[in-house]
Amino acid sequence: MITNTELEQKGNAFPSNVVSFRKDVDTLYFTTENDVALQITILRDGLLRFRYSTTGMFAKDFSYAITKHASIGYNQLDIEEKEDNYSITTTKIICEVSKKGLRVKIYDRADGTLINEDELGFHWEESYEFGGDIVKMSKVSHDGESYFGLGDKPGHLNLKGKRFENWVTDSYAYGKDTDPIYKTIPFYTGLHNKKAYGIFFDNTFRSYFDFAQERRFVTSFWAQGGEMNYYFIYGPKMTDVVEYYTDLTGKPDLPPLWALGFHQCKWSYYPESKVKEITSKFRELQIPCDAIYLDIDYMEGFRCFTWNKEYFPDPKRMVKELEADGFKTVAIIDPGIKIDKNYWVYKEGLENDYFCKRADGPYIKGKVWPGECYFPDFTNPKVREWWSGLFKELIEDIGVKGIWNDMNEPAVMEVPNKTFPHDVRHDYDANPCSHRKAHNIYGMQMARATYHGVKKFSHPKRPFVITRAAYSGTQRYTSTWTGDNIANWEHLWIANVQVQRLAMSGFSFAGSDIGGFAEQPHGELFTRWIQLATFHPFFRVHSSGDHGDQEPWTFDEDITDIVRKFIELRYQLLPYLYTAFWDYTEKGVPLIKSLVMFDQEDVNTHYRIDEFIFGDSILACPVIEPNAKGRRMYVPRENWYNYWTDELVKGGKEMWVDADIDSMPVFIKEGTIIPKYPVQQYVSEKKIEEITLEVYYKKGKEDSQFFEDAHDGYDYTKGRFCLRSFKLTGRKNQLIIQQHKEGSFESDCKNFKLKIHGLPFEIKTIQLDNETKSLEHLQVNGCLTMIIDENFSELDFNGENGEN
Ligand code: GLC
Repeated sequence: MITNTELEQKGNAFPSNVVSFRKDVDTLYFTTENDVALQITILRDGLLRFRYSTTGMFAKDFSYAITKHASIGYNQLDIEEKEDNYSITTTKIICEVSKKGLRVKIYDRADGTLINEDELGFHWEESYEFGGDIVKMSKVSHDGESYFGLGDKPGHLNLKGKRFENWVTDSYAYGKDTDPIYKTIPFYTGLHNKKAYGIFFDNTFRSYFDFAQERRFVTSFWAQGGEMNYYFIYGPKMTDVVEYYTDLTGKPDLPPLWALGFHQCKWSYYPESKVKEITSKFRELQIPCDAIYLDIDYMEGFRCFTWNKEYFPDPKRMVKELEADGFKTVAIIDPGIKIDKNYWVYKEGLENDYFCKRADGPYIKGKVWPGECYFPDFTNPKVREWWSGLFKELIEDIGVKGIWNDMNEPAVMEVPNKTFPHDVRHDYDANPCSHRKAHNIYGMQMARATYHGVKKFSHPKRPFVITRAAYSGTQRYTSTWTGDNIANWEHLWIANVQVQRLAMSGFSFAGSDIGGFAEQPHGELFTRWIQLATFHPFFRVHSSGDHGDQEPWTFDEDITDIVRKFIELRYQLLPYLYTAFWDYTEKGVPLIKSLVMFDQEDVNTHYRIDEFIFGDSILACPVIEPNAKGRRMYVPRENWYNYWTDELVKGGKEMWVDADIDSMPVFIKEGTIIPKYPVQQYVSEKKIEEITLEVYYKKGKEDSQFFEDAHDGYDYTKGRFCLRSFKLTGRKNQLIIQQHKEGSFESDCKNFKLKIHGLPFEIKTIQLDNETKSLEHLQVNGCLTMIIDENFSELDFNGENGEN
């Protein structure tokens, strides 16, 4: 194991004294006596890129992670040479670079707080085996500093005291401490002195992060090759850090709304009659569902882009019939192409030389589901284009609506390292390299090629793709799931952690295999998992099928009823989730937020795990133990309404919350307005002419949003959306709701049904857009309800003495 923490370690080399400095527009260049070069590029006032070279020269700049759409530009850049250092000032930070050793310190410009400081800073070790360097960076870890992020790591949310490796790995039945697993997202957020910053180490080689584990006051990261190339992202809010990171590595487009509905999957549903039996049962039992998945058995001998005609004699007809019943079909596609001279995909790949090769020329051969396979080099743009084109039949002709990319780590069976050998060659978009460099982005490039194909052939509808392997930036192309988990209580905990962590790593459209992939859950575990996943952006049941069934009706009737109730809740909340998704695509705001991200100033949140915020204002906390009648949880500062009882609780403390098997702790932040659809069996089943607005009274002001569009297609990019901004103002004797509408989309909605929760006064008068309404418009059944025109601008409820 390589460490960078042995000061005396013979192999380590360090930059010496700075001998030259120059500035070229937004980039500063430093060189040292021993030919170390440092480039600092100022991308935004709080976003700096650091690149180090040990030879004085930099390789061609290329990254799969960074998007060309990233927002760049700063307001101020002043450089001052001081006795010991160079000082760089922007509107947000001051960065000092020492003349001895190129060590960096970064301060908050406004109040001078030290945010981040190099310990040894950049150093390296020559890699005799492969050439180049093992590049290392060590930073001071401050007392009380916490660390978050790094993608799909299954352990505690706060990474402090732990060491991690990044090497995308097929990890069947992983556990809490398994590392690495399926994804590499070398980005973390540090938090101390209530201020947050991020570090994104954009290096695709096998990399490591040590968060004050080996030495208590040192956090370090290093990689087995490539450049020390990292971005420093200043918040100071955690949400800002993630938003800037997501802006840099890319935001997804809006998914079709059906993709946010419930999905049912298993390895595998076949033949056609089985698929139909499952989908009919959903409709019969009135359990909403939008997507049904076909795992590898739909293919002919696991050959991608083929169909087993015995099981599926007429896929086009089947997919059409499923669609008529409101089901979208999603099919799996793996990277391994079966070696079979009569198989057209294999032949095309071979003829065009699209498969990956070993260093000395032969193709890399590996065993996956179909037996011996060759593997397309997705790092070659020509191969990606070919791959995209292969989806024509599945998507355009047959009508499949989504593609599921799996085994794209790439996973290889029966070999000790579970993947390609290091010497395999890759094009890497005309930067030829070995698998050491391309491994971590292989799956991402497969998902990218898939996305472009599905997008092209789905047009004018939106694509849906899901991937298992990922590197930073993969969120631009696809959704993801957390891989082969297990049906046990620990994995319910893990699913909760992983989906939160992915969201704070820029990858919000994520979920777990509900109920567990390996083994079989009992009804209670399945129910608790459905409850949690109701609040996960991606909502899919999947299981290996080896251990029995895992459909909502597999257990007893009571369980089916509870599962239905939660899936129905998800469908009611779709407009709220879709609005949050839109916010994510616009600004990179994570779809779910761990408590620390919701309130970083409250130190009680720094080690909380179970509770999280769904969207902006729903607090959810799963029950993750058997036989529970409720649980203790931390309710963050602010006032919250218990979703089930409307009881108002004051946060900032831990409390017991009742939640028998048919319930789960869910709270709504006071002042919020939540749009809700009626229950549908699938998205677009009904023309929705009345939308409910759940209004949660607050003494004070609160803003809420509601975004609508056609729920598919691209018209929204041309202004055909409807964005409603609501302003709620609550006083002792008054509640005002104002609406402002933007965009040219004509919603089907004619009326809002307002449901007012927690109103502390008796209504005496109602003004709607300056007209007095009679109190007869109000109904009282549990909470106050009123139907109003969707175009209202201002609604004013007054109590006894008007506006106090
Ligand atoms: C892998 C996937 C799993 C899938 C199976 C068969 O284990 O992670 O989701 O069902 O392969 O394709």
